[in-house]
Amino acid sequence: MPTDWESCYRAGDTPWDKGAAAPPLLEWLETPAHRFHGEVLVPGCGLGHDVRALAATGQAESVCGLDVSPAALAQVRRFPAAGNESYVEADLFALPEEWRGRFDWVFEHTCFCAIDPARRADYVRAVAEALRPGGRLLAIFYLRPWSGGEARPPGGGPPFGVEVSELDALFAGAFELVEESVPTRAFAGREGRELVRLLRKTA
Ligand SMILES: C[S@@+](CC[C@H](N)C(=O)[O-])C[C@H]1O[C@@H](n2cnc3c(N)ncnc32)[C@H](O)[C@@H]1O
Repeated sequence: MPTDWESCYRAGDTPWDKGAAAPPLLEWLETPAHRFHGEVLVPGCGLGHDVRALAATGQAESVCGLDVSPAALAQVRRFPAAGNESYVEADLFALPEEWRGRFDWVFEHTCFCAIDPARRADYVRAVAEALRPGGRLLAIFYLRPWSGGEARPPGGGPPFGVEVSELDALFAGAFELVEESVPTRAFAGREGRELVRLLRKTA
């Protein structure tokens, strides 16, 4: 059964929301050689903590948070603006036509692991379509969001973990790997389960 994100936000049942930007993103941004630019898209932005962290750097022309949940985006208004961010209610799998090839960067955090694993190829296609040629995807992937070694979390998901080999296969057709790292900072419970990848659109 697909997750009813809107009901979760309405009920305040949002255990993924830690009230702050992802520590691996903040770590990545603190590295002086790491710069981004242009128009940035953040799919599945939830309450927008990562959107505001990106906007606060002042590096991007604009940072656009995207989410299917109107309740999440209504709650975003509680937070003071950090910079040049904006939010749009839309489905990543049905992006507006005028967004094709528009973005210089996409930032991924807890959207990929939230969607049905059967839609992962659609996810890669959607992100590639949103990016300009040569555009970058900066992603924090959840490798093993549960404690056991199971291929899928007990009781289903989300979050749905992913193996590195599956990431390689999924993104190989449209992206090349620029760099990757295991973050040293993480939310409690996510330590050692995340992988940061910077990918460049090739096709
Ligand atoms: C696990 S939550 C993570 C939210 C946020 N990134 C965070 O870390 O707090 C997944 C988010 O993806 C959104 N989402 C799920 N499917 C989506 C889709 N097809 N298009 C856009 N957003 C989607 C949900 O509404 C939810 O806000």
